[in-house]
Amino acid sequence: ETVDWDPKDTGKGGYDHYMLKEINEQPTALGRSVRGRADPEAGTVDLDGFPPGTFEGIERVHLVAMGTSYHAAMYAESLLASRGVPARAFMASEYATAPPPAEDGTLVVAISQSGETADTIAAVRAASAERTLVVTNVVGSSLTRECDDALLVRAGPEIGVAATKSFSSQVATLSLLAERLRRDVVGSPSPDAAAFLSALTALPDQVQQVVESGAAERVADSFADSEAYFFIGRGPGHAVALEGALKFKEITYEHAEGFTAAELKHGPLALVTEDTPVFAVFDGRDGDTETLGNVQEIRARGGPVVAVASGDAPDVADAVDHVLPVPATHPDLVGVLANVQLQLVAYHAAKRRGRSIDKPRNLAKSVTV
Ligand code: G6P
Repeated sequence: ETVDWDPKDTGKGGYDHYMLKEINEQPTALGRSVRGRADPEAGTVDLDGFPPGTFEGIERVHLVAMGTSYHAAMYAESLLASRGVPARAFMASEYATAPPPAEDGTLVVAISQSGETADTIAAVRAASAERTLVVTNVVGSSLTRECDDALLVRAGPEIGVAATKSFSSQVATLSLLAERLRRDVVGSPSPDAAAFLSALTALPDQVQQVVESGAAERVADSFADSEAYFFIGRGPGHAVALEGALKFKEITYEHAEGFTAAELKHGPLALVTEDTPVFAVFDGRDGDTETLGNVQEIRARGGPVVAVASGDAPDVADAVDHVLPVPATHPDLVGVLANVQLQLVAYHAAKRRGRSIDKPRNLAKSVTV
């Protein structure tokens, strides 16, 4: 008798799938993204190659990316906007098709795990920006050559087609970039820079707590036969809702959609039944009250609701069917922790269904055409 043995499997280090290995590697990956780059006491960032003043003269930021990296771009758009830096996230393919008119002071930030995505390269080439910068995981990739500057996310190699640790590390790296931009564009650090950077430094340990809790697997088991899976949130939580839905559809092959919480009553609510669980992201901001209202509208129509929320948000726990708890942190970073819970839900849902988790049908890790 012979045993099938793929030498690549040794790289899984005891895990059934690269995806779960990479989900579990997020504390390490995040630590690498942030280490040596943030000084919480001083409230300053120290980005190699981007000293204070690097972005003086920049007036607006265009973020271009695809897939999971696009969701990191949306997340960064929220972080920048709340820091007074005008920013917009674009799907790179759309930006390439119809680039916005040239304006002085525009910085284009391409976000790409691989640095090889054709649509993102096309966006950079189409851009008439003053400066281009790529935030990437791969040293020497095509986008590092196409762009004026490169900022590395340092997540380490990612094998699973479904991006996981690269997203967390992109958001962490973009958080540091947001602080640098805020200082250079607005002229002063953001008022709560010290608290934000200290929360960023604490994030690896908090992600560790999330991956050790079994809550996501239990929730995935509770909704094994649903018709569709919806994800809602606001601000960074909207980016996480879209990413949660993307992860879920990529590896479970089930119908999953993400929406802004407010959008629901303008159409998607027509889809809600007792067979459509809704995952709602609560991030501890003012918008949570409105999201709670949206949750009540869903439950009034029989839709089960899973809140992804900080464990100490009592109003939320009472108003939903299940809670996927995340440790308390700065509101700008709750989304990173919430996203890890949703990665785990997708993983366990796909595993139950016997899907090809690391290489889902029809998908490729890097889309270079
Ligand atoms: C493909 C992958 C996605 C990824 C996207 C962008 O679609 O399947 O996981 O998010 O490309 O890739 P990039 O390397 O540019 O981040």
